[in-house]
Amino acid sequence: MNAANASQNTEKKDDKNLKNIHIVQVDGQKISFLPNHNTLLECIESANIEVHYHCRDGYCGACRIRLDDGQIHYPNGEPLAYVGENEILPCCCVPNSNVTLSID
Ligand code: FES
Repeated sequence: MNAANASQNTEKKDDKNLKNIHIVQVDGQKISFLPNHNTLLECIESANIEVHYHCRDGYCGACRIRLDDGQIHYPNGEPLAYVGENEILPCCCVPNSNVTLSID
């Protein structure tokens, strides 16, 4: 691989990383979902924002919070715990866009 290819590969990797960075607004506080965050819960915890959790795997529903704006997805498939309309389980989802969340 020559220097030009190495540079292109680095740029592509950086582009991919930038696409994975989304702004997460939680009760008015803005934080960033970074590529090293595996779930939205990890992102929220990294900002020392208190959120309930138990199983951290989509079974119990303890982490349920409201999605006020934006889109998320569940990379490992739909969780088993009940989620109401406009609610999400941050322990097993990641954002597809900037998101606005409310924790009761
Ligand atoms: S912590 Fe159990 S569903 Fe999220």
